[in-house]
Amino acid sequence: MGVPPAEPLHLRRSGTSLLIDFSTGEPAMLHFGADLGPALPDLSLLGDAVPHSALDIPVTLGLIPQASSGWRGRPGLRGHRNGQAFSARLRVVGVEQAEAGSAVITQADAEAGVTVRTEVRINDGGLLQLRHRLHNDGADPYSLDELAAVLPVGRAATEVLDLTGRWCRESHPQRLPLHQGTWVRSGRHGRTGHDAPLLLAAGTAGFGNRHGQVWAVHLGWSGNHESFVDAVADGRTVIGASELLGAGEIVLAPDTGYETPWLFAAYSAAGLDGISDAFYAWFRGRPHHPGSRSGKARPVTLNVWEAVYFDHRLPVLLELAESAAGLGVERYVLDDGWFRGRRNDTAGLGDWYVDEERWPGGLAPLVDAVTGHGMEFGLWVEPEMISEDSDLARAHPDWIAGPATHATPGLPGSNGRLPERWRHQQVLDLVNPDAWQYVFGRLDALLREYRISYLKWDQNRDLTEMGHAGRPSVHDQTLAVYRLLDELRKAHPGVEIESCSSGGGRVDLGILERTDRIWASDCNDALERQTIQRWTGLVVPPELVGSHVGPTTSHTTARTHDLSFRAVTAMFGHFGLEWDVRHLAGSERTELAAVIALFKEYRPLLHSGRMVRADEPDPSLRLHGVVSHDGAEALFALVSVATSYAEFPGRICLPGLLPDAAYRVEALYPAAEDRRAFLQTEHPAWLAGGVDATGRFLAESGLPMPVLNPEHGLLLAVRRATADTPAATGGHAVRNS
Ligand code: GLA
Repeated sequence: MGVPPAEPLHLRRSGTSLLIDFSTGEPAMLHFGADLGPALPDLSLLGDAVPHSALDIPVTLGLIPQASSGWRGRPGLRGHRNGQAFSARLRVVGVEQAEAGSAVITQADAEAGVTVRTEVRINDGGLLQLRHRLHNDGADPYSLDELAAVLPVGRAATEVLDLTGRWCRESHPQRLPLHQGTWVRSGRHGRTGHDAPLLLAAGTAGFGNRHGQVWAVHLGWSGNHESFVDAVADGRTVIGASELLGAGEIVLAPDTGYETPWLFAAYSAAGLDGISDAFYAWFRGRPHHPGSRSGKARPVTLNVWEAVYFDHRLPVLLELAESAAGLGVERYVLDDGWFRGRRNDTAGLGDWYVDEERWPGGLAPLVDAVTGHGMEFGLWVEPEMISEDSDLARAHPDWIAGPATHATPGLPGSNGRLPERWRHQQVLDLVNPDAWQYVFGRLDALLREYRISYLKWDQNRDLTEMGHAGRPSVHDQTLAVYRLLDELRKAHPGVEIESCSSGGGRVDLGILERTDRIWASDCNDALERQTIQRWTGLVVPPELVGSHVGPTTSHTTARTHDLSFRAVTAMFGHFGLEWDVRHLAGSERTELAAVIALFKEYRPLLHSGRMVRADEPDPSLRLHGVVSHDGAEALFALVSVATSYAEFPGRICLPGLLPDAAYRVEALYPAAEDRRAFLQTEHPAWLAGGVDATGRFLAESGLPMPVLNPEHGLLLAVRRATADTPAATGGHAVRNS
């Protein structure tokens, strides 16, 4: 076929380089990491040594690592043609460089009958994207077991960090030393999973938020997946991810192909904050990104779930709407319980008609009241599911997905076996075009009938034993869900969609390509949320992370927190309420209204700036903030998550500002004299009226902080002094005492 190009491929952007050499005929990945600059040495002189007891050639780390080149780590491609053609020998047949920072590399093996086309680009901001498309050129079916996207990691990396979790405790970090061997995180939930890594990172010893080298990947996929760091005995380490395919799930007919999900990757020389910078820049560069850049600020949201649960009574819901509007809420979301037969979570999924008994006038009286108050109306749906106790399941028992090969699993008298129930529900087989069309039709009709601006799109179970016509079908189901979202968005371009999956069970860049925010967790406990949001925010910017002020005593942990801690926590996200706000005591209502006003004031900054997380040595304290890209303003939160070993916190550094600029720092909320938040006989003097300091002083020496009670936080406003305003903030402190 083609001749390998003489020139190596060197993609360089925003401080990151990817270097691929073609001199062996195989795309050899030489470097992913810091920008190497324009001048390269003669790469033909840089082949590795050949050790004893090894292949007689230097082993190439290919774009798709393969045994035919001697790679003994995790292979990039596993597949076969009925047991034959099990080992491909892919060689480059073409390299196209369309625009700066991007390329398409094509490799083929005529004997094995496969071609792989790889798209790779480094986006503005440094986020790398890579995906493969494998084509079956042969005359027989090709069974694909795995096609992985990998990148080399620098030798300096000695530690691995990723995230894990469970329902109500998503996105918790775990760290381990990097030894030889493979660290694999597998997700077999049929959805992304509450325990999904979100980010898998390898870095230099002790890498932190703002120091150390880090190489990190994320797979933009909402089905089964594997992410791994493979430290091979030859001394090389790769990091990568792939879709985890079921037995026989992908069998490619002649002249058909399979495309991997996008692998997203970033390198940072300045810790995890640099990784977030790359992801945030990518998100915010998208033309459809919601938030300040698109001109439409993220509306303050009230979701009624924890206020009423399934108890839908129109007078209560109307009162709630009026109360919310009075507080400054801008979007009102009616959660689960509005559709036919849905009195609890045992029935009704699939019957997407407004329940005539509970809602004799339809949803119109509520929608009209909500929109009449100037708020948007949002509605909860769970389109991928079906209750066995539903008209839909009674009419179409064969639409329930399961392992059976015949058309009607679950029908009395048939031998179809259904998967175990989860929250009493089953999965609707959206690979079945009739089922897909039915759901699309119902959602489309609802969106046409009512002024719905927002869907809370839920997905509340793992896809266990997910099958269509006897074959595993997580892959096809995931694509069917994507298509459902894509088509609905096309038909209703103004409607925003939230991705919820029992909280954060589906947080990934595949779903976020077609939704406008995620519900990070069903846990509204501010203490838990401090961790969940901090680590979800590693990848997902705050304007896409729903974060609500919940009830005083959390419904999922029974912990009680002051409003100030709940509000300071919810502030660093897409702010909202999930609380029965109808009967708040006078001062609490005033305080909540002031908090909402404060959020609106800082919303443009919070939803566009750089996320900064200090490497705070006291484990009881956390400091994070958002700094505007021009360094002119910032909002920080100092948060106490436990009692400290220290009597007082001493000086805490505020990093990320312009070193030579002069700033004014003011304590914003809660007020210094709030006795619930602080335990001290005197607070540091600057807290009363603010202080002027340079960015360098704030970052290197810091400010003395008050003694926060555990599970409390303090908001700090930072504004750069201009020529005519000597370092004055425009912020208005919330007075709550
Ligand atoms: C899931 C969601 C919740 C709520 C309920 C409704 O658990 O995560 O926020 O919408 O469903 O049943």
